[in-house]
Amino acid sequence: MDLKEKIQKFPRFHLTRLPTPMDFLENLSDRLGLEIYLKRDDLTDLALGGDKPRKLEFEIAKAIADGCDTIMTCGSAQSNMVRLTTAAAIKAGLKMVAVVSNDEYASLQGNLLVTTLMGAEIHMIETEDHWDLETATNKIMKNLLEDGYKPHFIPVSGTTPLSCLGYVNCGIEIVEQMHDSGLDFNNVYTPFGTGGIFTSLLYAFHFLQKESKFIGISVNRGLQECHENVNTWWDGINELMDAHSELPDNFDVSEDFIGKAYGDPTYAGIQAIKVMAETEGILMDPVYSGKMFSGFLDHLEKGYLKKGDKVLLIHSGGVPALFAYADKFNFKKKQ
Ligand SMILES: Cc1ncc(COP(=O)(O)O)c(C=O)c1O
Repeated sequence: MDLKEKIQKFPRFHLTRLPTPMDFLENLSDRLGLEIYLKRDDLTDLALGGDKPRKLEFEIAKAIADGCDTIMTCGSAQSNMVRLTTAAAIKAGLKMVAVVSNDEYASLQGNLLVTTLMGAEIHMIETEDHWDLETATNKIMKNLLEDGYKPHFIPVSGTTPLSCLGYVNCGIEIVEQMHDSGLDFNNVYTPFGTGGIFTSLLYAFHFLQKESKFIGISVNRGLQECHENVNTWWDGINELMDAHSELPDNFDVSEDFIGKAYGDPTYAGIQAIKVMAETEGILMDPVYSGKMFSGFLDHLEKGYLKKGDKVLLIHSGGVPALFAYADKFNFKKKQ
């Protein structure tokens, strides 16, 4: 049985039309002297799109199969995960409970505005680290259980071995698009949060014997934790696929573009967003895709990429956060 058939055996709750486009960025390619393509996962369905619908199709199906009536997740105030999980829960007719950090970007704008509009039950929590809302989440979960609800918790970023199958599928989809257009990429750049997207795409490419080099641009964690995550998700996918595929070495993760902290916009990221907007009319965000693109531009400048290389950038969405970061676009000098 091939990879696609194995994945088809897992229940999915339909959340988005697929495939997403893989666009050739003609203006940017002319300007930079490479062939640059963009996988448009910012254009998935649900409220303003992004990577989550692919991941959530598997988790929502599991919640329904387990007889749950409530979906819970957590994240930063401008969490894309919270926005899109709320939309997915609504589609599935489930109650939505969101645990959100009361951080610097907690204005009623962008993702938080959309989540509020969709009527999620939002718990704002004081915390130093939005990726560590576990204690508060456990307490709220306990209360829900006491009140007779049956919640299904989906962790930060939506990454579980099961949800990774959504991005293994995306990898298969990209390889099919490559075949259709006779393309082979030297490099694939992705944002790296938990590493779910990164590892799953790498898994699919490796399985289908495509040897493009994968470069993950970390947006929050240092190298060691990123590598541990890659191993964890790789093993988790192997287990679900009943496979023993060995982790290849055609990948790199960079911790150089995080800036001061997760969600803190960098000067290079803001400049990269401007370059993409001005050359292609495509929006990116300051937390994920903008940092990923700044990593790519930096690597090009440092000579890690050659003229004529074919490069695929993964646009995983996140654009609504732009509106909560509007005042950061007045940067006059390097920070
Ligand atoms: C827009 C966007 N891109 C990328 C990611 C990171 O994905 P992963 O955690 O699978 O690395 C996230 C996580 O929340 C996200 O919202």
